[in-house]
Amino acid sequence: MSASVQPPVAHAVDVVASEGEARHLAGELVARLAVSPDVRGMQWDEGAASWLCTLAAGGRGRITLAAPADPASAAQHTHRLVAVLEQGTPAEAEAFFRAVRHLPFTATEIAAAVAELPLTSRLAERWPHKPLAPVGVLLTIHHMRDFLVLVDSLIALGVDPAHMTVIDKEYPYAHTHRVDAHLVYRRGIAVWRYRDLLEGIEDHIGRVAAAGKRSVIMDDGGYVLPAVLRDLPAHAGHFTGLVEQTTSGIRKVDGLELPVPLFSVAESDMKAMIESYGIADAAVRNTLRLLPEEKFEGQPALVLGFGRIGREVARVLAGRRMRVAVFDTDITRLVAAHEEGFLTGRPLTDLVSAHRPRLVIGCAGSRSFGVEQSRLLPSNAFLVSTTSRNFEFALEELRQGSTAVTDRGVLGTSYRLAGGPEVLVLGHGMPINFHYAESLPNRYVDLVLAALAAGAVALSGGDERLRPGHNVAATNAILAESGIVDDYYRLYGPAGGGGRG
Ligand SMILES: NC(=O)c1ccc[n+]([C@@H]2O[C@H](COP(=O)([O-])OP(=O)(O)OC[C@H]3O[C@@H](n4cnc5c(N)ncnc54)[C@H](O)[C@@H]3O)[C@@H](O)[C@H]2O)c1
Repeated sequence: MSASVQPPVAHAVDVVASEGEARHLAGELVARLAVSPDVRGMQWDEGAASWLCTLAAGGRGRITLAAPADPASAAQHTHRLVAVLEQGTPAEAEAFFRAVRHLPFTATEIAAAVAELPLTSRLAERWPHKPLAPVGVLLTIHHMRDFLVLVDSLIALGVDPAHMTVIDKEYPYAHTHRVDAHLVYRRGIAVWRYRDLLEGIEDHIGRVAAAGKRSVIMDDGGYVLPAVLRDLPAHAGHFTGLVEQTTSGIRKVDGLELPVPLFSVAESDMKAMIESYGIADAAVRNTLRLLPEEKFEGQPALVLGFGRIGREVARVLAGRRMRVAVFDTDITRLVAAHEEGFLTGRPLTDLVSAHRPRLVIGCAGSRSFGVEQSRLLPSNAFLVSTTSRNFEFALEELRQGSTAVTDRGVLGTSYRLAGGPEVLVLGHGMPINFHYAESLPNRYVDLVLAALAAGAVALSGGDERLRPGHNVAATNAILAESGIVDDYYRLYGPAGGGGRG
């Protein structure tokens, strides 16, 4: 007899929708489950006002479309879809909840996101001649609600959804499964997971090339082009250009001979001067949300890397009344941090010993802090990263140097260091602003998403200023001409109403 899941396991998702939309969404889910090979039968249970789901190995699940018990604590028009696995094996639980979590957004929810992203959602008014019709698009952008608005805008700009592919970076965003479901069920777009990256790229190229088109890459972290050049070099000619939105992506292509133009939103003035503060603020806000009982005011903090993001993080922490130290391996940046009034020192171990930070925020973009430094921290210190994936902290080194490693659920992983303190690596060392969160507010990220689309339009149209290699000056010029920043200023500048019309 196979082991059963004990006790019942529940999953609830709040959906903002009209009555009709909510019923339709639940009905679609039930219909999808009914034809799944993991399900033997679905039956409406009148008495319990729910669907009973008999699973393949005899387990039992239940799906109920409920109302929140305390509507005052939920958003207006919230419906609560509750799925309970009453009995079943772990394998049945896995299959049942995988299906249940895969819930597209309602039209009401998408309309709210569209209203929050006025620049991105109205790009087709700026370029009405379908400039993206000749190309396919391969995207590795964060799986968040704002991304769905960008995708719809790219479709409105002419991309055929059959010629789009999305690589899911597999970060645990707030709504990652719903975003995935929306792309697949509502837009018919192919989604591949990061772990199957090469297969996804090959599938994309096959589909798009068969239609006689080439593709633009819209990347966030240098996932695609380095992999193509390294592992699929014969296919490099399929791509006409690359839009990159983050520094880590620039680092990954830095040593490479780029056969195509790079539209470098990552290195644009817009990213450095406007977005970095938002990322820093989102990172600190999510840190505080995850640790609501901590009192950081008056406590020592350390920021690693005084680049675009680190500088803003240091300022945000100082604004929250922390005593902030900064370390950067680049002496010019270290001097800049010192002259801005932050405590600095070198080598790093001396600074950590002297300052004993309770909160360490890594913004270096590469491995910057390991077991040697962690041993010098006070007890109950927190390590937090803003860097892509889990590259900032030497996690394997920490694991090997620990007498106990504990998974602390949503908080992350704690390491009891041999002969040292216990440190908590918040969010398992992944960029904290995405950890069960959606990073920047939609109205803020709107500018950068619109800039990415402007890059795709320029590359698709063969803008002559964009040459193989980096194009920072041309990127700045094209973004300035696009009028996107002017519109942002109109919305949120001195004469704007904060984007609310
Ligand atoms: N979380 C997010 O939303 C988000 C968004 C954009 C970028 N990022 C990532 O954040 C990281 C930083 O981005 P940025 O734009 O601020 O980069 P940046 O290049 O402007 O700054 C990095 C700084 O770190 C310093 N540095 C490098 N190695 C170091 C080390 N070992 N110790 C201390 N300092 C070191 C560099 O000298 C530089 O000053 C990148 O990995 C980037 O991809 C995250």
